[in-house]
Amino acid sequence: MAAIRKVCVLGAGLMGAGIAQVAAQAGLEVKLRDIEDKFLEKGMAAVKQSLGRMVKKGKITQADTDTALSRIKCTNKLIEAVRDVDVVIEAIPEILSLKKETFKAIDNESPSHVIFASNTSGLSITEMASATKRADRFIGMHFMNPVPMMQLVEIVRGYSTSEETIKSIEELSVKMGKTPIVVSDTPGFATSRFIAVLMNEAIHAFAEGIASAEDIDKSMRLGMNHPMGPLELADFVGLDTLLYVMENLYREYSDPKYRPPLLLRQMVRAGHLGRKSGKGFYSYSA
Ligand SMILES: NC(=O)c1ccc[n+]([C@@H]2O[C@H](COP(=O)([O-])OP(=O)(O)OC[C@H]3O[C@@H](n4cnc5c(N)ncnc54)[C@H](O)[C@@H]3O)[C@@H](O)[C@H]2O)c1
Repeated sequence: MAAIRKVCVLGAGLMGAGIAQVAAQAGLEVKLRDIEDKFLEKGMAAVKQSLGRMVKKGKITQADTDTALSRIKCTNKLIEAVRDVDVVIEAIPEILSLKKETFKAIDNESPSHVIFASNTSGLSITEMASATKRADRFIGMHFMNPVPMMQLVEIVRGYSTSEETIKSIEELSVKMGKTPIVVSDTPGFATSRFIAVLMNEAIHAFAEGIASAEDIDKSMRLGMNHPMGPLELADFVGLDTLLYVMENLYREYSDPKYRPPLLLRQMVRAGHLGRKSGKGFYSYSA
């Protein structure tokens, strides 16, 4: 397989913006797509802010920033976004039907060599692949949040994913400065299955009133040396995304240990989505 030079990133939210940034910094040409220009503008503002922080810390130069930014082209048109790319990395909301519809819509428009990768936190790669005619070139490429900072990419092998596809995405991950691991396609994979349970349990405990949010977070930060407490982390991930992840784990494993707390559901219904909405377990100024 030829080297990957051009990528399309679908979704310019928390993850998509970060993926576009690290791809551009790695020298790849990037097309970034969201459904409306305002989301693209927000995504690009996040990329600029993140690169600006790196310049301030002396990690990169202003010229590196300008070059990286010049490699990202934004569009709200799906077909234009996937035209003439080698890989599509999808980072749209964690809703299986939406992801399947999106991959189905681009399948006929994409030449056969193009790899489709989903950044899903734990939905079935095999089921998404079934919406396309390229199940062997369909894979999970699960980046961690915040993408520019976190080392890991969890590569997910679907039922029909070929070894060649895995090798290409391992190479792409390394090119993007990441360390890949390969896991099989099971709900929540490794990372989300482990960490979502901790966040979920902390929200149950908070709803039961065992301690304040601050003290629950201190229990893991100071007691277990976690860099963030589970409620802070839930706010950081996005409570809507966490709820989707828990609903999927609960549905797939039919195990009550994955039951999402009513409090989480209510907070999402109220629009308290964590950092991205300005309010979650904590309040954030813009
Ligand atoms: N938030 C995390 O910590 C995290 C970590 C790893 C993986 N993920 C996964 O990454 C994916 C995206 O999560 P996020 O946190 O970036 O969500 P987000 O809500 O921040 O961003 C999603 C973006 O997708 C856009 N969008 C919606 N429909 C679209 C479509 N059809 N085409 C293109 N864009 C569309 C939205 O407008 C939004 O800008 C999810 O699958 C999530 O599970 C999230």
